[in-house]
Amino acid sequence: MNDSTFVAFPSELAVFGKHRSVRYFLREPLAPGHLDLIIEAGRRAPTDAQGHMYAFVRITDVALRDRLATLCADQQHIRDAAEFFIVCLDVHRLRRLVEHRGGEWGMRERISLLYGATDATMVAQNMVVAAEALGYGTCYIGAVQNNVDRIAEALALPPGVLPLYGLCIGVIDPAHYPPTVKPRIPRALCFFENRYPADFTPEQLDSAYAAMSVKRDWWESIGAYFAAGGAMERREPVMARAWRQQGLDPQPVEQPCTSTH
Ligand SMILES: Cc1cc2nc3c(=O)[nH]c(=O)nc-3n(C[C@H](O)[C@H](O)[C@H](O)COP(=O)(O)O)c2cc1C
Repeated sequence: MNDSTFVAFPSELAVFGKHRSVRYFLREPLAPGHLDLIIEAGRRAPTDAQGHMYAFVRITDVALRDRLATLCADQQHIRDAAEFFIVCLDVHRLRRLVEHRGGEWGMRERISLLYGATDATMVAQNMVVAAEALGYGTCYIGAVQNNVDRIAEALALPPGVLPLYGLCIGVIDPAHYPPTVKPRIPRALCFFENRYPADFTPEQLDSAYAAMSVKRDWWESIGAYFAAGGAMERREPVMARAWRQQGLDPQPVEQPCTSTH
């Protein structure tokens, strides 16, 4: 397998080779019909057991968009993008469908969280690829988790619906682009054959830092997000509150676990 960071994609796959998150948008709408195409591309994504465990809230209200941007680490590109969605996992509608036919709801919190996040992410990424193929820029907004409890309230989300991240789609500001695409960690550290490696050697870990440290040491970012005291740790109590608030906090399992095959 080729392990180079930058692969020359053939024209059919060019959209993947050009991907980079865009944070500078012109204040212009998408071309007529394009939003529908992007949404329909999203809706063609597979969904586990046809459960459709996702909901997208399109934010068109300017004041609400501004408030959400403030709650998401005050990121200006949320205000500037032509379109901004809050991407949610959603088992509320599925529960209504089950109960509508007289069924008793059988989805627990863990499976709701995992499968809902999976379904929603497949839709979102289809939308990203479609938007980028049409020439637009996109940016996910994980900072939704900084205030996910308040965002769920602001959008009147019922129990069983939980925001995962935001998604900006907009017209790229050419004054800031074309930017370079960012590197990826070596393939050998994330694609394995038949089994997971026993451990990562110091040389392999150094190779990841070497590949990723283009403009600055990647550790600055890794440490700020993932080390103790970083952004991810600070999100934890907010997320715990939001999971409780949205009825998705995993409860202890009463029965001994029997694996299902
Ligand atoms: C789930 C998720 C959350 C993200 N959150 C943010 C964010 O809040 N703000 C931002 O500017 N970029 C955000 N990003 C974009 C990442 O920073 C970006 O994808 C990463 O640095 C790789 O760069 P690239 O997409 O340009 O290749 C997010 C990406 C993902 C997948």
